[in-house]
Formats: sequence, structure tokens, C-alpha cells
Amino acid sequence: MAERSEAKRAIRAAFEGAAPSYDEAASVQREICRHLSLMAHSHGLIDQRGLLLDVGCGTGFGLECLAALAPGAERIALDFAHAMLRRLAVAPDTYPLCADLEAIPLSDGCVDGVWSSLALQWSTPDRAFPELVRVLKPGGRAWLASLGPQTFHELRSAFEAVDQARHVIDFHAPESWAQCAISAGFEIRALERRECFAWSATLRGLLRDIRAIGAHSLGDGPRKPLNRQQWRQLEAAYEACRRGNGLLPATYDVILAVLERPKPR
Ligand SMILES: C[S@@+](CC[C@H](N)C(=O)[O-])C[C@H]1O[C@@H](n2cnc3c(N)ncnc32)[C@H](O)[C@@H]1O
Repeated sequence: MAERSEAKRAIRAAFEGAAPSYDEAASVQREICRHLSLMAHSHGLIDQRGLLLDVGCGTGFGLECLAALAPGAERIALDFAHAMLRRLAVAPDTYPLCADLEAIPLSDGCVDGVWSSLALQWSTPDRAFPELVRVLKPGGRAWLASLGPQTFHELRSAFEAVDQARHVIDFHAPESWAQCAISAGFEIRALERRECFAWSATLRGLLRDIRAIGAHSLGDGPRKPLNRQQWRQLEAAYEACRRGNGLLPATYDVILAVLERPKPR
């Protein structure tokens, strides 16, 4: 329990610190929002009215998508990092809410739809999904993007050449997300998986971008920085991933899902 709250504090601190650099480094995150938008467009979000909730809204990419797809709806922008919420563009009909997505301070059945892109992988699915289903009205939908186990596989394998520490968190498989969603009371309307990539000419560049978006609380707690020899080993191991375009990739294994809280029969 103490370990979990320590881990959560570290994740939150990383995102608080990343808020000023997030937008500039977050091209993959924008791309993933576009994929989620397309999926949501064909699964009920277009012209949705009422109240929509963006869970883990960050600096507001998703809110832009919601405003474009459902201009008649009001939006709650939820994030536990104050610094992220402070960067939201002031927009009419958007209400910031600083809160933990595992304990959402909203009443049961009060929102018409839930959007969340790249926040749920930082939470415990069997705490997050019951909250999402609880705040949704019966018949309401959730449009979600999260990350699967192949995320940063290049980094995970390269670190294996250096030491035994866990440098990259274990992302849950789509089946385990689906199982948690169903146990919480959701029905699954669509589930897709696709790869997106961040690119850089150097490993330093890739790691700088990961830090700039706040995703660097990735492994087991604080540890000693790599020494010069370990860093060279890491770079050499990552070099094997260089692609025909001359760049190094970091894979994002993206899980996209549309869920529905069923109406009582
Ligand atoms: C990678 S960013 C994604 C931001 C935005 N959704 C986007 O697509 O650009 C993840 C966001 O989720 C937030 N977050 C992570 N865990 C959270 C939690 N337990 N409760 C609320 N927000 C959380 C972080 O503060 C961060 O702003």
C-alpha cells in the first residue's frame, strides 16, 4: 500500500515537472489522440451532448478533440498534476478538476461520456475501471487509449545488456485491460491495437523526449545513474534497432478501446 502511494507520488511529480516541456515533445501523444478521435468518431462521440470527462487530460490535446467532435457538450478536464491543468487553454464549457482517476470526486452516473488518452497505464486497472463505469450514465461510452506490453521494448532489451534492474514498467496486455473493464461492469464495443513510434537520431534524444513528457518514472524506484561504461553498453545495444530511415525508434504499443456502461435490462 505504502509502495503504491510512493509510486503514485513519483508518477505525479514526474508529470508536474514535465508540464512546461510536454507539448513540444509530445508528437506521438498527439498522433494517438488523432487515432482515438477517429475511433470515437465512428463509435458514438460525434455530436454527443451533455457532459464529457477527459481523464488524465494533461495539457489538453484530448479536450481539443472533444471540442471538435462534440462542440455542444461541456467538458470536465481531470488530472492529478496541477501544473498540467494550469497549461490548459481557457475555454468556455471546460471545467478543470485536480483529482486522482482512481478516486474521482464526481457523483454516480453524472457524465455522458469518458475520454482518456495515455493516462490509464499509470493506474491500477482494477481501481480505475470501476471509477470510470461509476461516473458514467447507463448507456454512456468510454473512448480510451492506453499502452500495451510491447511499449518501449527496444529500451527494455537494451537495458538487459547493462544490468538486472527493471528500467521499464510492465504495461498490461489488452486481454487484461479487457478483463478488468468487463469485471467493472463495462461491455466492450471495440478493441484495437496499433504501433506508433517516437524517433530520434540518438538514444540521448529519445530519452530526453521521454523525460520531457514525464514518462521517465518508468522502472523500479530511484537508482544510481549509469556509469560511462554502462551508458556505452546501452547505446551499443540500442544501435541494433536503428532503421532504414537512419533513426532510432521507441515503440508505443497502443491499445484503443470503446466501452459502454450497459443500461439496466
Ligand atoms: C502521457 S500524459 C497524457 C495527457 C493527455 N491525455 C494527452 O493525450 O496528451 C498522462 C497524464 O495523465 C495524468 N495522470 C496519470 N495518472 C493519473 C492519475 N492517477 N489521476 C489523474 N491523472 C493522472 C498525468 O498527470 C498526465 O497529465
